[in-house]
Amino acid sequence: MSAFLFISDIDNTFVGDDDALHRLQHQLNIHRQTYGTKIVYATGRSLYLYREIAQEKSLLLPDALITSVGTEIYFDPTQDQYDPDWAKLLSQGWERDKIEAIATQYSALSPQPSSEQNQFKISYYLAEEDAIEVIPNLRSDLSQTEYQTKLIYSGSQDLDILPSYGDKGLAVQYLREKWKVEPHKTVTCGDSGNDIALFQGEERGIIVGNAKAELRQWYFSHRKPHHYLADASYAGGILEGLKQFGFLE
Ligand code: GLC
Ligand code: MG
Repeated sequence: MSAFLFISDIDNTFVGDDDALHRLQHQLNIHRQTYGTKIVYATGRSLYLYREIAQEKSLLLPDALITSVGTEIYFDPTQDQYDPDWAKLLSQGWERDKIEAIATQYSALSPQPSSEQNQFKISYYLAEEDAIEVIPNLRSDLSQTEYQTKLIYSGSQDLDILPSYGDKGLAVQYLREKWKVEPHKTVTCGDSGNDIALFQGEERGIIVGNAKAELRQWYFSHRKPHHYLADASYAGGILEGLKQFGFLE
């Protein structure tokens, strides 16, 4: 056994089965103390909503926290200060007000609460039946501007507009380079659309058994040998995958 970089989405991946979560946290904590394994959460939640679930579920304090679908990185989640270097990278080709004004023209988009909006993330609720039409049209409108954006649809209900340089996967690359960890010593875990970015690199990837349709579809058409679709759900699926890849015994 040796140190690895553990990265997991929170909702319906790390959290979802309290018993399995307890077992997983116990093992990860021992691994961190013994080998120096690093623990990172990569969530769609804002820092504010992260703190709610971290307290409710007694989550281990991470070595870094990626929030808001990769648009903010915190090295100390007990402080409110996000990493300014990451923010600087995201600001290329991004003008929030102008981009928001384009999206506002679509009546099917209804804004998420203000806690879930930030400088580099514009988030809406969008019903599945409207998504088929709205997403390609909005994408085409945005591609005709000078802005560099990306649309991510998750759980058949959430639409995030992000800078092209910001998503969970790019945030992981940034941390991996900073900490000098090899891709084969890194594992990412997820269940939904905003986690697809976590599986774009060479890192080992665990898709939990309860994954949503959009991620399953992605898996069946894009999977690589370093991706593993677990039988078990939530943290049970993560434990299964960590053993499969030899990160845990
Ligand atoms: C989380 C965030 C929300 C986002 C969703 C999908 O639920 O709170 O803003 O749209 O993840 O990425
Ligand atoms: Mg999730």
